[in-house]
Amino acid sequence: MSRRLTSLVVIATHNPGKLKEMRELLAPYGIANQSAGELGLPEPEETGKTFATNARIKAVATASASGTPAFADDSGLVVDALDGEPGIHSARWAGPDKDFRAAMNRIQTLLIERGAKTPEQRRAHFVAALCLAWPDGHIEEFEGRVDGVAVWPPRGDKGFGYDPLFRPDGFDRTFGEMNALEKHGLPPQGQGLSHRARAFIKLAEACLTRA
Ligand code: IMP
Repeated sequence: MSRRLTSLVVIATHNPGKLKEMRELLAPYGIANQSAGELGLPEPEETGKTFATNARIKAVATASASGTPAFADDSGLVVDALDGEPGIHSARWAGPDKDFRAAMNRIQTLLIERGAKTPEQRRAHFVAALCLAWPDGHIEEFEGRVDGVAVWPPRGDKGFGYDPLFRPDGFDRTFGEMNALEKHGLPPQGQGLSHRARAFIKLAEACLTRA
């Protein structure tokens, strides 16, 4: 039986793009929240080898530092022709300056080196692992994924990170060309398209109650 989240949660991220999306996802459930950044909590080192392990590291560290349930996401872009890179290293590829233009250029350079030109050769997916951790050690974990293509050149100035590079299957536009409702709006208004929205729908079913 899953444990339900009833009041305050700390969102274990220092990434403003993710924080905004996670707040929008939590909004219909009326759960008060603060971010780890706002509370001045340190960012734990992400030493795991999977998205799920890294989400757990962040949620558990934040729950024990704050004494409050914590909600963490670990996510990234997996490019098939690059043997799954950048994957769990997606944030690192942008470097300390968070230069996602450079990270997208690196993906393109490597894809061209490997002769990947057609959409079939440029398959990619986003993954989001979500973890809810309570200070007593209880955890709940969920994962979501959205499949598509790494396009070139990048298109659109909405969203964050690798959004302009990624066109989800069944759409002409990249995530960078979609507004927030299209990218991660939940049913009934949205269709729960993004990896984070898909993982969140599972989390909400198990652990949240609509306000
Ligand atoms: P981490 O989960 O903090 O390790 O960071 C994951 C990185 O993956 C982010 O900094 C982004 O670069 C990328 N990423 C994850 N989700 C998305 C998304 O929805 N759009 C674009 N980039 C994303």
